[in-house]
Amino acid sequence: MSTHIEAKPGEIAESVLLPGDPMRAKWIAETFLENAKCYNDVRGMLGYTGTFRGKRISVQGTGMGIPSALIYCHELINDYGVKNLIRVGSAGSYQKNINLRDIVIAMAASSTSGINNTRFVNCDYSPTADFDLFMKATLYAKENNIPIKAGNVLSSDQFYEDDFNNYKKWADFGVLCVEMEAAGLYTIAAKFNVKALAILTISDSLVTGESTTADEREGSFSKMIEIALNTVL
Ligand code: ADE
Repeated sequence: MSTHIEAKPGEIAESVLLPGDPMRAKWIAETFLENAKCYNDVRGMLGYTGTFRGKRISVQGTGMGIPSALIYCHELINDYGVKNLIRVGSAGSYQKNINLRDIVIAMAASSTSGINNTRFVNCDYSPTADFDLFMKATLYAKENNIPIKAGNVLSSDQFYEDDFNNYKKWADFGVLCVEMEAAGLYTIAAKFNVKALAILTISDSLVTGESTTADEREGSFSKMIEIALNTVL
């Protein structure tokens, strides 16, 4: 048992999918895993372990934003020996050619988070996806005709910006979309020498102002989960 996870030793698999929403963790476990067993309900941040095509895989909610996600990632890595961490989440498009329901794989994650600013004072660290996981995910998508986009994403500390036009600065420098956790995940994975990848589904667009309904999100999330599960098989 760690501070925020009540699993017993051995109850969490080496590979963990990380949705922000704990109810999404439940949905992933019940929809995609066999014999899924809940190992965590502390603060309602549900975590499950089951099997996918015979391989043990866990899925753990992280909450929203880098500070919350880092608590769970830290404990998964250091208290439960997790080696592969795959964020599966939603993102807002920053580009005209990135549409609702598109899947984006984050090669790198820029950030407005204060955490790495405090850590690397006056210097820029580039949080980067694990190459092996990135290759496996993109290869699976290609072989199964699942269209994906890949590139730099922004991990923001704010969902509600004072000025939504701020996105244009990032868009001008090629950032594809905004979410709230990948930069923290990539940094902690590098620090503890484990592998991490963020796979995102576009749920809204800063460019057009559109957003998906809950039903649409479920349908498009399935392809992202399929890629994530097959990446850690
Ligand atoms: N996740 C999904 N849409 C988002 C947005 N617009 N900003 C931050 N995180 C998001």
